Amino acid sequence: MRWPVENRLESRLDLPRRLRRARKAEWARKLMRENRLTVEDLIWPIFITDGEGVTEAISTMPGVFRYSVDQAVEQAREAAGLGIPALALFPNTPSNLRDETGSEALNPENLICRGIRAIKAAVPDIGIITDVALDPYTSHGHDGLVAEGCILNDETVAVLVRQALLQAEAGADIIAPSDMMDGRVGAIREALDAAGFADVSIMAYAAKYASAFYGPFRDAVGSSGTLKGDKKTYQMDPANAAEALREVELDLAEGADYVMVKPGMPYLDIITRVKDHFAVPTFAYQVSGEYAMIMAAAERGMIDGEKAMLETLLAFKRAGCDGILTYFAPRVARLLAGKA
Ligand code: PBG
Repeated sequence: MRWPVENRLESRLDLPRRLRRARKAEWARKLMRENRLTVEDLIWPIFITDGEGVTEAISTMPGVFRYSVDQAVEQAREAAGLGIPALALFPNTPSNLRDETGSEALNPENLICRGIRAIKAAVPDIGIITDVALDPYTSHGHDGLVAEGCILNDETVAVLVRQALLQAEAGADIIAPSDMMDGRVGAIREALDAAGFADVSIMAYAAKYASAFYGPFRDAVGSSGTLKGDKKTYQMDPANAAEALREVELDLAEGADYVMVKPGMPYLDIITRVKDHFAVPTFAYQVSGEYAMIMAAAERGMIDGEKAMLETLLAFKRAGCDGILTYFAPRVARLLAGKA
């Protein structure tokens, strides 16, 4: 026997599907919401500069400052109060201390080591992530040692290992190699373990692309004027996605605890693939150029900066991120806490 047509499955599927029903009010949208941005998702990158009592504006990053160590401590205190879990420290090395080999990276009294010690002493509960790479210390602005125009891989790794050990000795919680040399994660892991730093973690800048979006950062650390050439022989080609999975696979095999994709928003597809494929803690860096774009458009009245900020950060969560390095961190944290 045949069912009357209105009872048949296919006719029920023909009923209008009204997805808008679930969007009819804010309470209804809340029930449906798949992802949320919280203060616990945020890692705040801050720039440290020489001197005392210094808070210095960066013209290409409105609202971002370089802080002397004492001021960085105050910022860390505020960040901890807002519930931001971790800071990522970057130095603006005085230009007279930059040289061919980036030797200041190996000075236990450099800005980063002093910054780590001061923040750890005053604000012990905030996580400290440190950058391992030579570009803030070299006179040529490259992340590694250069010979005849080539970036030397293994020789650079040997220096990065020493840099990482110094940072661990100063009290860093997470070592974050951003240099893209092959084999550096394994070498750093082995050295940390051998030196008794088994609890110090590694967050690998695993899929880091040779990007146009790093410009303002290079102003912030003072390497934009000095950089000779580009970084295409070590950072990834923006055309590639499968290669990002190989980079992540290697870094995990070498001992990375967390992996990062960088830049962020133009590479959301990479974040999703990494998270789907490896199911490991996955982070994105919303880099300086992404920050500057939003700020510049907002300043000119072209977009609502605050809404754009929140939308981009939520998009990272939707893509699969466990956390985001973002210069917006304190602003978002204040907003989420109802303090802005
Ligand atoms: C370099 C480094 C860069 C950034 C973080 N670490 C720049 C580069 O590779 O030239 C960029 C971060 C940003 O743009 O916000 N080791």
